[in-house]
Parts: sequence; structure tokens; C-alpha cells
Amino acid sequence: MSIAIYPGSFDPVTLGHLSLVTRAKTIFDEVVVVVMTNASKTPLFSGAERAQLFEGALKELGVETRVHFVEHGLVADVSLQLGASSVVKGLRGIEDFAKEAAMATVNRDLSGVETVFLASETGLSHVSSTLVKEVFFLGGDVSKYVTSNVLDALRSKARD
Ligand code: PNS
Repeated sequence: MSIAIYPGSFDPVTLGHLSLVTRAKTIFDEVVVVVMTNASKTPLFSGAERAQLFEGALKELGVETRVHFVEHGLVADVSLQLGASSVVKGLRGIEDFAKEAAMATVNRDLSGVETVFLASETGLSHVSSTLVKEVFFLGGDVSKYVTSNVLDALRSKARD
């Protein structure tokens, strides 16, 4: 049984992330989403909220996949704990690759886990959580980029 983990900060999950889960599920027997902390980012949503939003978005699209939340930890350790032989990551462009290649090498050094990169779906390669937040909080329409549970959560953050 081939298990892959899909780690990320997902602040919040976008249709780009969801497309990657769907496509990775055609390659691996099981894909586990792992909501983690990116030490170089200050998240809008708490870890628990990000995991809940990912679960809700998967439900909205009718995709069955487990979501784990790991507050502090290494991708390498999570892959061992979950029995995953692969990490799956999306690449939107060459800038992503520069950053992801180093992480893939460190993760392999630490636990032997291999990283499999999937190119973003053509129509979604411009979508990122950062852009979604920026456009939303400046009054733009992000309904093309996120599921409705995420849109509701953004609206509720804007009211806070
Ligand atoms: O969605 P992001 O923000 O690009 O995700 C980055 C993430 C969470 C995958 C990365 O920061 C990460 O791997 N964090 C866990 C800690 C870890 O394993 N660090 C070593 C990787 S080289």
C-alpha cells in the first residue's frame, strides 16, 4: 500500500491544493493531508482552523482524505509515523522548485522519504493562499479560488 503525505501550511486551503489532493489520489493508495506550521509565516488561521477548513473543503467537493494537524514537528518524522514512503508537493513555477528542492533533499536525508512533485493544474498555477488573503482583504472576489466554507471563514475573520 503506497501512502503519501501532503504537508503544507494551507492558510487557507485553495482550489489549487484541493486539485493536488485529487490528482495525487490517482497515483497513491492513500494521501494524507498534514497541516503544519511554516516557521517563516505568520498564519491568519490557527492550525486547528486550517485543518478544519481543509476537512470542510474536501467534504464540499466529495473527496475522501484524512487530514492531520501537527503543531510542531518535522515532515520527515510525520512521514515515518504515518508509514508514508512519499511526500507530495505541488509546483506552481520555477520559484517553487528552488525552495522545494532543498526541502526535499533535507527530508530525504532525515528519513529516506522521497518527494514527488506535481505541476499545478494550468488554470490554477497563479493561485496561492497569500494572494487569496491579499485580494480578499482588499475587497476583491476570491470565490473562484476557494471553496465556500473558506470564503465564509475569511468573511468571519474580516468581521473580527
Ligand atoms: O504551504 P507551505 O507554507 O509552503 O508549507 C511549508 C511546510 C509547512 C511544508 C514547511 O514549512 C515544513 O516542512 N514545515 C515542517 C518543519 C520541517 O519539516 N522542516 C524541514 C523541512 S526541510
